[in-house]
Amino acid sequence: MIPFLELKQVTAAHSREIHEAVRRVIDSGWYLQGEENARFERDFADYIGTKYCVGVANGLDALHWIFRGYLEMGRLAPGDEVIVPANTFIATILAITENGLKPVLVEPDLRTLEIDDSQIERHITERTKAICIVHLYGRCAYTERIRQLCVKHHLLLIEDNAQAHGCRTPDGRRTGCLGDAAGHSFYPGKNLGALGDGGAVTTDDPELADVVRSLANYGSGRKYEFRYCGRNSRLDEIQAAVLSVKLRYLDEDNAHRAKVAARYYEQLSGIPGITLPDRLPDAQNVYHLFPILCERRDELQLFLKGKGIQTVIHYPIPPHRQECFQAWNHLSFPVTEKIATQELSLPMGPVIREEEVLFISEAIKEFA
Ligand SMILES: Cc1ncc(COP(=O)(O)O)c(C=O)c1O
Repeated sequence: MIPFLELKQVTAAHSREIHEAVRRVIDSGWYLQGEENARFERDFADYIGTKYCVGVANGLDALHWIFRGYLEMGRLAPGDEVIVPANTFIATILAITENGLKPVLVEPDLRTLEIDDSQIERHITERTKAICIVHLYGRCAYTERIRQLCVKHHLLLIEDNAQAHGCRTPDGRRTGCLGDAAGHSFYPGKNLGALGDGGAVTTDDPELADVVRSLANYGSGRKYEFRYCGRNSRLDEIQAAVLSVKLRYLDEDNAHRAKVAARYYEQLSGIPGITLPDRLPDAQNVYHLFPILCERRDELQLFLKGKGIQTVIHYPIPPHRQECFQAWNHLSFPVTEKIATQELSLPMGPVIREEEVLFISEAIKEFA
């Protein structure tokens, strides 16, 4: 059996250091808002290239607090429109709708599976106040054109960096420092994954960092004084300690992912019926996932399962077709819908072995 991603092995790769870190927290008697959080926030801000990092409970909250923070700061107002890719994971959209803002869905480019920057400007109205790009599948979605649109129309640029820790732009900056603020998820399967839920906001804006920190701590800046109606949304000390260990190996893990991807590209390019996204230079894609498109996707998935190969679909139902967003169910996003019916994510991660990648590739060739 080749699992999609074997988390047990991912943790085992750094088992001694992770156990030491967890034991250190247990023995310290200090479990929230302590030195481990402070250290991880410093290290992650340095890694990403921002002045500030605020640890929060998960990736959805990270994005949620960014939008809420800008509402509190008067930079956004209820009803403002936020441009967002139509094929993103639902969390990106929820962070917008939960705050009384309006997501404006824009189609991805079928060649990259990222937001199609040539489609953005025609969706900009008087109410548009932000673009939220999503570095989906681990691939840099930022473009110079998007930056220029933000400048021209005075828009906030927010990054959903849940899937792309360590990814770089063509000029070498890391995703997560490219706009006004970024939300990160440390869900266990992410490139930088915790042993449970975790998330963070990175930004260069001291006011936003301060407001987000308060919001995620009941709305409190000082003990028992509540400036906002916030929630309990903190990163705990054990997760922060684990993340500090794993951050040290993130680049190495991403380099392994790049090697796996190179093999897939070598083996699967030009196979009839299988489409691979356009390839970017390695640094600009940290291959959180390795998506392929196939018209006979469901058949292919079953065939691979029969060979003992586990695959996952990201994502079978796009946000506008979900029951929770009934008002959008009639809308048509052909590219997004095509991806939803054709996408299949192959096994990928920091521990998958070369012979497994070759076995998977051979199985796909046999199917094709
Ligand atoms: C693109 C994207 N945004 C946001 C999230 C939300 O992160 P979390 O699961 O930590 O809440 C995820 C991951 O689950 C994601 O893939």
